[in-house]
Amino acid sequence: MTTHLLSLGNFTKEQLTGYINRAMVLKKEARAGLRHQQLAGKTIGMIFEKPSTRTRVSFESAMYDLGGQVIYLSSRDTQLARNEPLKDMARVMARYVDGLVVRTFGQEIVDELARYSSVPVINALTDLFHPCQILSDIMTVIEEKGPIEDLKIAWIGDGNNMANTWIQAAAIIGFELILACPEGYDPDSDILIAAQNQATRPITIVRDPREAVREADVINCDVWASMGQENEQKEREKIFQPFQVNSALLAASGPQTIVLHCLPAHREEEITEEVLEGEQCVAFDQAENKLHIHKAILEKHLIG
Ligand code: CP
Ligand code: NVA
Repeated sequence: MTTHLLSLGNFTKEQLTGYINRAMVLKKEARAGLRHQQLAGKTIGMIFEKPSTRTRVSFESAMYDLGGQVIYLSSRDTQLARNEPLKDMARVMARYVDGLVVRTFGQEIVDELARYSSVPVINALTDLFHPCQILSDIMTVIEEKGPIEDLKIAWIGDGNNMANTWIQAAAIIGFELILACPEGYDPDSDILIAAQNQATRPITIVRDPREAVREADVINCDVWASMGQENEQKEREKIFQPFQVNSALLAASGPQTIVLHCLPAHREEEITEEVLEGEQCVAFDQAENKLHIHKAILEKHLIG
């Protein structure tokens, strides 16, 4: 059966930790100079309807490192822009490639592609979820701080695609997650309620970022206006100002805390230059781990 990676919600704890453990091995092997060819003869199609630096390059690089090939299609390059039905696109692409990595707007777009595709569809970010990102973020947390089940993770800012995905991960893996979001910018309520019902550790929303970071092991942040929300940028800058991750907020947490940012970062908006470039921030290790996680994902979904 074709297995897609559309959200973390369809996976077990063992499956999620399986990607991370395998990525850790692949990272070690890459550092040791070991070359791999397990995806030789395989090709993925990458359909990206939003910009990307990290996800695009790390997926492409991961594929090449494992011996495979990539065909990249921006929204300009396909007939989707001219309203070719998704069900036709999915069935045609599946005749040419061994997997699809898709970055788009609505979650229903990846869901529909997956419904009609006989090859795996991997969600490389939608408005609702960013599953591959959160796997590499959790890998980074484990490398830095040990088993995530023992940690308190704070999310500061918008209840966006990243926040929704962290919520699903917290419920499945079992770790404490506290999110500080301005009123009106909460995560998706259905996802939150489902996760709270499933969770073994608290998943909480608060309004005060200081409350969220108290005794936190990890502070997570992301842009205030996600891709597709550019027209709300100015309004959001005002609303989110108290949610900036700066040295005062970091001090309220403590020297044990690490700071994650999925990047791209807007300095002096959601995070200050001082914190982003400071010792407690691991954003660039986090970015590297996308490469290793994407290898583990491609291996699992393309060859089982
Ligand atoms: N973190 C992340 O997904 O970055 P890109 O938008 O550059 O892919
Ligand atoms: N929430 C951000 C994540 C970027 C990687 C966005 O969707 O633009």
